[in-house]
This record gives sequence, C-alpha cells and structure tokens, in this order.
Amino acid sequence: MSEILSRRNLLEQTAAMAAAAAAPALGQNSKMSIGMIGAGGRGRYLTERAYAGNAGRMDVTAVCDAFTSNLARGKDLIQTKSGKTPKTFADYRDLLNDKTIDLVVIATPEHLHHRMLLDAIAAGKHVYVEKPLAHTVEEAQEIMKAAAKSKSVIQVGTQNRSNSLYQMARTMIHQGLIGPCHYTRAFWYRNALPTGAGAWRYPVPADATPQNADWAKFLGPAPKREFDKNRYFQWRLYWDYSSGIATDLMVHQTDVTAYVLDKSFPETVLASGGVYRWTVNDDREVPDTWSVLLDYSDKFHVNYSCYLGNAKFGYGEQFMGDEGTIEVVNRSTLNFYPETYQGIPAHVKERKEMSVTIPNNDNLAVEAHIRNWLNAVEGKEKVIAPVQAGYDAAIAGFLSVISYKQGKKVKWDTKADKYTVL
Ligand SMILES: NC(=O)c1ccc[n+]([C@@H]2O[C@H](COP(=O)([O-])OP(=O)(O)OC[C@H]3O[C@@H](n4cnc5c(N)ncnc54)[C@H](O)[C@@H]3O)[C@@H](O)[C@H]2O)c1
Repeated sequence: MSEILSRRNLLEQTAAMAAAAAAPALGQNSKMSIGMIGAGGRGRYLTERAYAGNAGRMDVTAVCDAFTSNLARGKDLIQTKSGKTPKTFADYRDLLNDKTIDLVVIATPEHLHHRMLLDAIAAGKHVYVEKPLAHTVEEAQEIMKAAAKSKSVIQVGTQNRSNSLYQMARTMIHQGLIGPCHYTRAFWYRNALPTGAGAWRYPVPADATPQNADWAKFLGPAPKREFDKNRYFQWRLYWDYSSGIATDLMVHQTDVTAYVLDKSFPETVLASGGVYRWTVNDDREVPDTWSVLLDYSDKFHVNYSCYLGNAKFGYGEQFMGDEGTIEVVNRSTLNFYPETYQGIPAHVKERKEMSVTIPNNDNLAVEAHIRNWLNAVEGKEKVIAPVQAGYDAAIAGFLSVISYKQGKKVKWDTKADKYTVL
C-alpha cells in the first residue's frame, strides 16, 4: 500500500510540476484551444458541457471524426456554441499536428483510446480521455509509462469525482460519519426496448456506408473484417472494441469508490454472468448480466452487480460502514442512514437520516470535470482523475473480464504490476 501511495504521490507531483511547466505556453489573455477527437454522442455532449460550464476561457477550434455525418454534426454544434467555424479533420493525427491546438478530448470507442492517447502525449497536447483509458492491461501499462515521462496534463473522463454529492460523501466518511467502511455495494440496473440505447443498441444511421464511415480508421488495431454498420455504431456489444459493462459502467463505480474511500485497485477479482436478457435476434458478445466480487488488500470488499433488463433500482453505490450507510443514487441523490442495531453507541444513535437531491447533477459534474482539467492545464490545481486513477479503474475492469472469460478468480500483484489467474 505504502508503495502504491509513494508511487502515486510521485506521479501527482510530476503531474503538478508538468502543469506548472506547461502553463506559460498558454497566454493569459488568449483562450485555450481544444480539438475534439470523436464527435459521436459523447464528443458532442462534452462540447455542450464545455461551453455550458467553461465558456469564455476556451474554444473548441477543431473536430475530427471518421464518419462524415458526425463530423458535420460536430462542426455545426461548435459553430452554434462558439460562433466560429472549427477546422475539420478526418484523421486525428492531422489534428494533433496542428500547433494552434493545445488541448484535445478523446471521445472515440474504447479500443482506439490507447493509440490516440499515446500520440496525443507525444504531440505535447493536454488530454481529456474518456474512460476506459485503454482496452487491455498491457496498453494501460504503456500509457502509464508515457504519461510519467510527459508534461501533458491528463484528465480521465470519470466525472463522478467532480460530482458534488460524491465529494460530500467523501467528506462525511472521512469525518467518521459511517465509521470504518469494509464493504461497498455498487449496482447499475437499466431496461430498454430491444432497439434502445439502454440495451446498447444505439441507432445505426441509415446513411452510413463504407464511403462515409471509414471502417479502417474505426478498426484501428482491432482484427480486420468486412464493413459492418452494427459493429461501427454499436461497438459496446463486441469484445474487439469494448469490455462491455466492466469498462463502460463498472469502471465509473470502482473509480468513485476508490475516490470516496481512498482505495486503489483490488487484489482479487471474481466475475460471473452472461448474455441472459438480450438473446433474441441479438449477436452481442458482451454480457448483459454481470456480477463481480472485488477484494482489496486492506480488508475492503466491493460487491458489484449489473443487469440490463430491469431498471427498478437504478444505479449507485452504497458505502456501508459499521455505524451507517451513505449511498449516492443515479448520480443525483445522496442518502445517509445511521445504523440502528440494538446497543448502538449513543453518539451514533443521535445521528439523523438525511437526503439531498441535485437535479441534473451529472451535467454539473461533467462541467466541473472539464473546468478542473482547464485549471490544471493553467497550473492552478491538480486533475482530480489523473492517469493513475484511470489506470486503477481500468485494471479492475480488465481483471473482471479475464475472470469471466476463464471462469476463475484473478489475483493482481501490485508490486510486479501483473495478474495471475488462480
Ligand atoms: N464518462 C461518461 O459518462 C461517458 C458516457 C458516454 C460515453 N463515454 C465514453 O465516450 C467514448 C465515446 O462513446 P460514444 O457513446 O460517444 O460513442 P459513439 O459511437 O457515439 O461515438 C464515437 C465516435 O467516434 C468516431 N470514430 C470512430 N473511429 C474514429 C477514428 N479512428 N477517428 C476519429 N473518430 C472516430 C465515430 O465515427 C463516432 O462518431 C467511449 O469511450 C465511452 O465509453 C463516457
């Protein structure tokens, strides 16, 4: 643990020094210039949130996408928000070569993050990279090495860390409100029509063809195959491009649990599940039913559960301490419940339940997450989701996939930075 902490401190210090070193390059009076790589659902949403929460200090000046319709959508959106026409690129490497761009956002499918992030670091850009930061353990390790040597300020897109309710939960827990915490229950439940986004069946644009959706660029390092619209637009369903629930949803939840409770990564991971709900006319590979048991070195356990066929309980994390529970549900409600068992100490008994709801809190969190990144680029603060946090969360996700595929428990050796299938 101490080794992790000292390595982490070192990385944080390095990142802070890098931020300070990078700051002078950005003129005090000029706006920061951002390039958006990937203008799909997330890239456009991040553009909106960047302007909603940070207008006046930055402009999205360039956009890149391998699908011409999304490139046009991204360009239109930026024009509407900024009143200026951004540069457009079909190849992200051309965007990275543009010296007028200081910062880039990477919002492409998971399997492309690794190469794009390494190239962005090599080009000297500051980066906001969507989660997960890589697609395999080895890729994530390569990123850690490159990040440690670079001056880039890197924010990973796990915005729950910038969510006021998780920050409140962290403060309350650190002040002892729930006592020692050895157990967290995290869950994500949703439902949808067979063609719905909740089933990860995002709409496939009718106009998509091999001529306007660049299949080779989409595939990147993934195995070669014939053009397939479903794979292009519903990439979350296939192992070549995604680790499914593990790195799309769970990654947010192990990450924020680590943030709230000061953890790093689990020592052992055991996953189970399968495709149980979406079986009719459905070629998905990644499970829709997913349970994972994660044990950490310091007597701490996360019980994770996700099902894409029933939305009754929503999503959230329940931090269950010896003296009480704090839960954050749907990113917008925090509840505190003191424990009530017989003989409970008087100081715990006096505590009152409380509940806070902040509507649209994820929007505010994303705006704050982008703001924190911009502040860090200016050397004013540290990023709240540094590359180490992205690494920890991604590793937990990868280990769960390895466990699921092999039907065995997986052990992580922190010192050696490698896993063993037990
Ligand atoms: N933090 C969050 O809460 C959150 C929420 C949603 C999505 N995300 C993440 O954002 C990322 C993107 O997800 P999405 O839902 O926007 O996917 P999407 O499929 O809607 O968009 C991906 C875009 O990338 C483009 N693209 C593909 N290959 C490219 C290439 N080589 N060069 C340039 N563009 C390319 C596609 O044409 C598409 O427009 C994923 O990593 C996802 O996990 C994060």
